[in-house]
Amino acid sequence: MGIEGEAGVGAAAGIDTSRASIARVYDMFLGGKDNFAADRQVYETIQAVAPQGDEVAKSIRRWLIRVVRHLAGFEVGIDQFLDIGSGLPTVENTHEVAQRNNAEATVVYVDNDATVAAYGRALMEENDHTHFATSDLRDPAALLATPQVAKLDFDRPMVLIQCATLHHIDDEADPAGFMKHYVDALPSGSYLAISHWWDPGDELPEGHRMARELEQRWRESSMGTGRYRTRAEIAELFAGLELVEPGLVELNDWWPDGPRLRETSLVERLILGGLAYKP
Ligand SMILES: C[S@@+](CC[C@H](N)C(=O)[O-])C[C@H]1O[C@@H](n2cnc3c(N)ncnc32)[C@H](O)[C@@H]1O
Repeated sequence: MGIEGEAGVGAAAGIDTSRASIARVYDMFLGGKDNFAADRQVYETIQAVAPQGDEVAKSIRRWLIRVVRHLAGFEVGIDQFLDIGSGLPTVENTHEVAQRNNAEATVVYVDNDATVAAYGRALMEENDHTHFATSDLRDPAALLATPQVAKLDFDRPMVLIQCATLHHIDDEADPAGFMKHYVDALPSGSYLAISHWWDPGDELPEGHRMARELEQRWRESSMGTGRYRTRAEIAELFAGLELVEPGLVELNDWWPDGPRLRETSLVERLILGGLAYKP
């Protein structure tokens, strides 16, 4: 479809096709097809520096699946999940993984992207225990007050997921500050899962250089956001919680499913994941 045709389709669905959307660009890295010219331009700009970008997106999804499977499984047995910045539907969505372990697990997805709202809602709301809300994660009070989130029982443990979301939030929005609001709202016994782009600094100098280059490209794109934060900055997002083993680590090092069969590329190393417990 030509760009003008795409703009027509976008307008019909209430989507501004002149700017890239991280939900659609990320979906491209996962092999999805719901994208417009502005998204493809960002995708190509990033692939030019980090051709293994697709592997990063897949690592992120695999990490999320391992986290949800662990928490929904018999060992922990949590049955409430709040997946914020959930993205476009893909293979093995949070509710599919959680409900495979417990068919009655409640999953609430939240995103503020028009494409996710337009195309995702029907798929995400495919059963009575799965819900979708449109809300901006930078405003925890409003997000937590949506009727869909209110379906969760805040007197029982739940899992709050911020998977590959907070690095799209600028420092001015104070992610550590608003994450404290979410953590305060969580009942005791809950968990917080975060994956976040990482600038390794002196720990991995070639990774530091790539993180700086990628951050500049994301920020200069029509999306205008993207932050590779330090380990200390990411750790701050878990303030007040206890990180469970193995702590805040590269995604492929977080309870891998089995032996590593290929080398992890540099760009794949530039994201950390952690799971923390609220005593
Ligand atoms: C990289 S995607 C990650 C999707 C999914 N969490 C995953 O890990 O596969 C980032 C998602 O966060 C959403 N997002 C970004 N900023 C947001 C905001 N301020 N409020 C709500 N969602 C936001 C985007 O629309 C997008 O769907």
